[in-house]
Amino acid sequence: MAIIQRNQAHWLKGPAVTRQDLRATARGPYRLVLLGAPGVGKGTQAELMNERLGVCHLSTGDVFRAAKDLSAAELTPALQEALDYMRRGELVPDSTVLALVRERMRCLRCPGGFLLDGFPRTVPQAEALTELLRSERLQLDAVLDYEMPIEQIVARLSGRRTCPNCRAVFHVTTRPPKVAEVCDNCGSPLAIREDDRPASIRVRMAAYEKSTAPLSEYYRKLGLLVQVSAEGAPEEIYQRTVQALEERP
Ligand code: AP5
Repeated sequence: MAIIQRNQAHWLKGPAVTRQDLRATARGPYRLVLLGAPGVGKGTQAELMNERLGVCHLSTGDVFRAAKDLSAAELTPALQEALDYMRRGELVPDSTVLALVRERMRCLRCPGGFLLDGFPRTVPQAEALTELLRSERLQLDAVLDYEMPIEQIVARLSGRRTCPNCRAVFHVTTRPPKVAEVCDNCGSPLAIREDDRPASIRVRMAAYEKSTAPLSEYYRKLGLLVQVSAEGAPEEIYQRTVQALEERP
């Protein structure tokens, strides 16, 4: 089956981008939401699903991080304000996030499906997504809720290194780059995300407990929630995820 996917330019930059890639995929299309605490491994699983299932990985966090590269003229006051919230580990206001997603509706209409990572993050965002999808006559297939004890999550976050150029994600012990502090893919120096400092991690965990954890109940009531243990190696978790998706009626 030929589907439109993989090219995240439209998602990262917004409606000004028009190009889309075509590629065949064996399964799907899937329309999925990934839930789970900061650092549980959503992005890592999304990368695997993107490679193997061909579903486009759409992360609102990546959109905000990509905004750092915009020129002063392109950086709207709302985006500038969003970057300040993000640095502190706080959630960006719903109105800003929803405006950003609405600008990128074409990604949600993509016949290749999508993998929403980091959105929705509050009940009002989830309700807005339900409405957006309903208006497009689209349905979610499942909401994957990754779970793991908090101490292990903090260890994942504090060892994370990311590539500011190609956005690849590494970990100092569990997924080290071949050359210390250098990206395997593009050779750029790796960085620690600004919101991976201990003070911001605490704020992010609190925001998750208060605003994002209640989403599990929201999606359970809609019959969409699929809980997946995030313990173990990325490959094990990926296999668990695919099995859980395949077992759904
Ligand atoms: P966002 O970018 O969405 O960050 P997050 O949800 O906090 O999630 P992370 O990216 O930190 O973690 P992850 O679960 O993807 O873990 P990863 O795979 O990297 O959001 C950032 C900020 O943007 C928010 O705080 C907020 O300010 C703002 N924002 C974004 N969306 C918003 C919204 N909708 N509303 C409001 N504000 C919003 O893994 C972590 C580490 O562990 C890596 O080093 C990885 O290599 C390692 N690892 C992963 N899996 C394993 C494994 N199985 N075993 C060992 N190590 C592993």
